[in-house]
Amino acid sequence: MIHLTPERHWMNDPNGLVFHEGLWHVFFQFNPEGNNWGNMSWGHASSPDLRSWTEHPVALRCTPTEQIYSGSIVHDRMGEGDELRAIYTSAYSNGKQAQSEATSADGGMTWTRNPNNPILDRGTSDFRDPKVIRCADAEGRERWVLLAVEAEDRQVLFYGSDDLTTWEHLSSFGPTGPVGVVWECPDLVPLPLDGDPARVRWALTLSTNPVGEEPDRDGSSMSYVIGDFDGRTFTAEDAGLRRLDHGRDFYAGVSFADAPGVAPVMLGWMSNWRYADQFPSSPWRGAMSLPRELSLRELRGRAHLVQRPLGLDEALLHSAPSSLPVTAEGTSWSLGAHAVLELAWDPRETGDVKLVLRGQDDFVDVRHHTDSGELTIGRGGRASEAVHPDFPSLISMPLDASAPARLLVCLDGPLLEVFANDGEQVASHLVLLGGGPVSASLTTERPALVTAVVAALTQVRQH
Ligand code: FRU
Repeated sequence: MIHLTPERHWMNDPNGLVFHEGLWHVFFQFNPEGNNWGNMSWGHASSPDLRSWTEHPVALRCTPTEQIYSGSIVHDRMGEGDELRAIYTSAYSNGKQAQSEATSADGGMTWTRNPNNPILDRGTSDFRDPKVIRCADAEGRERWVLLAVEAEDRQVLFYGSDDLTTWEHLSSFGPTGPVGVVWECPDLVPLPLDGDPARVRWALTLSTNPVGEEPDRDGSSMSYVIGDFDGRTFTAEDAGLRRLDHGRDFYAGVSFADAPGVAPVMLGWMSNWRYADQFPSSPWRGAMSLPRELSLRELRGRAHLVQRPLGLDEALLHSAPSSLPVTAEGTSWSLGAHAVLELAWDPRETGDVKLVLRGQDDFVDVRHHTDSGELTIGRGGRASEAVHPDFPSLISMPLDASAPARLLVCLDGPLLEVFANDGEQVASHLVLLGGGPVSASLTTERPALVTAVVAALTQVRQH
């Protein structure tokens, strides 16, 4: 696999994502004792290239009275000894949640907690998931800004600091959007619209998890809002939260601090609180998505978040594209359980397009409906039905039928990510196609050409 999973035991949210001294560090919500949520601590892994991972000892371990919930890491160049600083939520056994800090002088391997923790405390019980970023205020002065949620209130709270320890409340965003959910894991990234540095917008991203007596059966998902941030206040450009990933399994995504390129790189947890503890995988349970480079593209007059996966190019480079005349009977391939498929077609010639992946017990059915301009993805079969009644699903996302369409499908064992039109729309799903061969069949409504590149994902590992 090229995706990050712990060697064993439970993992959820990515935490403390930071690129430091040539390594991509990923800390994560981790249960060092078992395969279900609990004993929340920060696990740790690092990678030189975002596709080969080394797991390190637990970085921050829970105590009988304090669990270590989600948070972030920044590189404090001003502080003593050039340290990494982790700012995370202490979830105390008395029900309180407040923000704490720890420092590392050895590149993230060992951590010392601040004896004065917590450093930011409102005396409330759902104040969590601090994400610290560096940005300029209205006078152009660089400061630290911390975003955290009051989860039940559906609010993001903004704080400012010069020293990462004393925090001043700046503003709040929300509540807005659907009720019956908690907000979690906020992040805020600047993005030049269509790459133009004179047109920078800010994307506020957050995760929502249904709560209450009859929670939404679709479960947890991620959203974003485009707006402006002046160093104190986030002002949304248009109302409403927009879905970030249309699949069932992308949550708690946040971006790396100090990523070497210009674009922010996001990583999410590929699961859903609706059934996360019932998904059959062993000896680990929980995986991260592919890293995604974020950008903003103007589409139909609106700034739209685009997510381009990193790490697949090499696999695709090693396989020659083939143009397939797809006849009425269709075309099929036998794939391994780890494969990348890139397809391009012109919907005006093909009409509806259908790609079905079939494993031993289960299937994934991807369809471009040209009448409605939608791409639907169904997942089902006996293995899916056995996970949870809400695991079999049919999701849909927009895919224009009046222009050429492209689809990148990455299957890495139980992890499926579908990127349409170079990341304009994305869907991430857990799937149960099994460890054996997967058959892929492609049919079009009318006989027409489809360009296809099929590559084994294991090739990525060898380079
Ligand atoms: C999101 C979340 C966070 C919390 C963590 C606990 O998935 O619920 O709000 O910090 O997981 O594991």
